[in-house]
Amino acid sequence: MGLRWLWRHRVSALLAVLVIFLLLTLLATRSLQNNRTHGLRPTADRRNQRKAAEKHTPIPHQPAKHTPTARAERQRAHPPVVFLKTHRTGGSTVQNILFRLGERESSTFAFPYRTYQFNYPDRFRVAFVDELPEGSSQFDLLCSHMRLDLPQVRKVMPQNTVFITLLRDPIKTFESVFRYHTSTVPAFFSAHRAAASEGKPALKVFLDSPETFWDPKEPGNGLAKNPMSFDMGLNNQKWNGSWPEDLALLEEAFHLVMIAEHFDESLVLLGALLGLEHEDLAYLRLNARAGNSVTELDENIRAKVRSWNVLDTLLYDFFVQVFWEKAAQYGLERLKAEAAQLRDSTENIRRKCVSRAAVPPAELEDLLRPRQTESVTIVGYEVRGNLSLQDQGFCVRMMLPELQYHSHLYFKQYGRDMRAAPAD
Ligand SMILES: *[C@@H]1O[C@H](CO)[C@@H](O)[C@H](O)[C@H]1NC(C)=O
Ligand SMILES: *[C@@H]1O[C@H](CO)[C@@H](O)[C@H](O)[C@H]1NC(C)=O
Repeated sequence: MGLRWLWRHRVSALLAVLVIFLLLTLLATRSLQNNRTHGLRPTADRRNQRKAAEKHTPIPHQPAKHTPTARAERQRAHPPVVFLKTHRTGGSTVQNILFRLGERESSTFAFPYRTYQFNYPDRFRVAFVDELPEGSSQFDLLCSHMRLDLPQVRKVMPQNTVFITLLRDPIKTFESVFRYHTSTVPAFFSAHRAAASEGKPALKVFLDSPETFWDPKEPGNGLAKNPMSFDMGLNNQKWNGSWPEDLALLEEAFHLVMIAEHFDESLVLLGALLGLEHEDLAYLRLNARAGNSVTELDENIRAKVRSWNVLDTLLYDFFVQVFWEKAAQYGLERLKAEAAQLRDSTENIRRKCVSRAAVPPAELEDLLRPRQTESVTIVGYEVRGNLSLQDQGFCVRMMLPELQYHSHLYFKQYGRDMRAAPAD
């Protein structure tokens, strides 16, 4: 059976290969079709499964056995999620966790029709959402920037959607919003200009007389006062009789309001809510500023920030209290222990993945370079070079900046590039 034999039977051999190839193609097509009808049909089934899963294990005490099927079933059992990504609170880090979760499960994302934000700073509207992709029966995840409008979001998402968000100490949040959004928020921009001509620190100039820079009718000034209240759709300009009622509605709507100052504890509660494991919750702090882009605040400035953002202070204090109530329900000791475990496993994953942290943008490859603004430097991570292909996939995703990950997922879902912002 040497070369000569092969040469003599070349036509038969070619034909045989062709037949096998055709058979395989046929099989692959059929199994794809099955998958597709399978994906379309079982909305009701899936919902019931989810309901059953929720009823039986609202907060699982013990992680399920790590058999591949148990893991897959449990993970598919988590409900749809809306994450309200508030500005400069650590939201990019949580969004990255959800991006990874959604990608692994081939979830359908409710993406903005244009860019990576839902027409911010307008209030969210159904019309801002891109179409349901072919083959999907519902949106599973919504986690792009928006200004919340609950009834509108509810029209887009299934009924059993879990709502989560993240709040941060309002003083730190405002300091960060002020530094980061200098060129996009007109009130901040004029304060910076005035400060530059006077040779004074911009934040001090702004806080000494905020009303001279802040035009409440200018839509771009949403973040200039009580930015977290603004993102949550509350009246962020001044307290009035409707405020407590609106806050109560938010408390009712949100299953979990995470607190940046207790980030690991927040993630443990998130994991319990969605049935996630510590590996799913491992994270790197994303979109963080370089040390020299953070302003140190003295007590005098802190007091002024607090009083300018008094509604954010109310909002934050209220949800910190709600957070500790949830924590008490979960069990404080258990929460503390699991947060410590999460920190350990996250630290191991970081050691495995990251060769260098807080890397200046100029030293990062395009894929891993976070978006910069004129006023701040955003640092990133360098991935280790000696990882297996699979680990590399995991590690790179964990450090992928928002824009890059958003475009990647958008392309995966629609087979086309994200639309740009309309030209003015
Ligand atoms: C409070 O302000 C909001 C938004 O400006 C307004 O819709 C609402 O009617 C006001 N409520 C009261 C009680 O004044
Ligand atoms: C990769 O390199 C780091 C540091 O040199 C080392 O600690 C780690 O064990 C290596 N990992 C693999 C998978 O070889």
